[in-house]
Amino acid sequence: MNEAPIGIFDSGIGGLTVASAIRRLMPLESMIYFGDTAHLPYGEKSEAAVQAYSIKIADVLLEKGCKVIVIACNSASSSAYELLVEYVGKRTKIINVIDPMVGLVGQQFQNDRIGLIGTKRTVNSKVYFRKTSQLGLGIELASLATPLLVPMIEEGFIHQRISHDIIEKYLEDEVLAGISALILGCTHYPLIHGEIVAHYGGSVQVLDSSEVTAQYVYHYLLQENLLSSHLGESDRFLVSDYTDSFEVSTQLFFGKRVHLEFYKLWE
Ligand code: DGL
Repeated sequence: MNEAPIGIFDSGIGGLTVASAIRRLMPLESMIYFGDTAHLPYGEKSEAAVQAYSIKIADVLLEKGCKVIVIACNSASSSAYELLVEYVGKRTKIINVIDPMVGLVGQQFQNDRIGLIGTKRTVNSKVYFRKTSQLGLGIELASLATPLLVPMIEEGFIHQRISHDIIEKYLEDEVLAGISALILGCTHYPLIHGEIVAHYGGSVQVLDSSEVTAQYVYHYLLQENLLSSHLGESDRFLVSDYTDSFEVSTQLFFGKRVHLEFYKLWE
């Protein structure tokens, strides 16, 4: 079981930021990544649609014997996590990208006002709001949907005047006034982490869920005695729709270009 792969899925290739953090922290683990490129963006879809896609992908990762399934997508984590836990039952563990971040915020930002930026699906689901409120630690959550950021990043507009202007426009929204930390609640945003940090000039802590999630996965595997002691199968990167441009973009999100394999999700 220890040599079984870690399953990771996302609406597309953005979740490779989480896969990359897992790869850096746990070099001996094998991964099977599933990017649902046929159905992205999840951030613009209904809850029911994201739930249906997530169940279908969980079936693929279960069939491949994954010892844990990481929902690397904030939109899927906010819409399908509870359903997946129920669906998968004891067959494997499901980890989302929201709980590790909420845990961190609970430890470090009690009685603070915290900002969240993410897709419409994530923000409208109010899951971060519900989970931070349930901590009962006086955390006030200020959230803003920032839907232009995903296409902007996918088109490679990073560290440019246009990205600077869009980021500034969003971050200066009065909803986010007075925050002491900002949660980057989307797979793509680690790529503009530097620009967001520069915008605040050190006055706001910028929290990246890919690193926190990788730590969470590591501690889970350690606690359950499931860490691999030697490198097994090579990583695989499956996608429900293949284009060259998806493959080229893997460089951006994973730090190196990887080979994508087409996997037919629906018969
Ligand atoms: N992966 C999505 C998320 O983290 C962003 C891209 C999409 O909308 O599909 O919310």
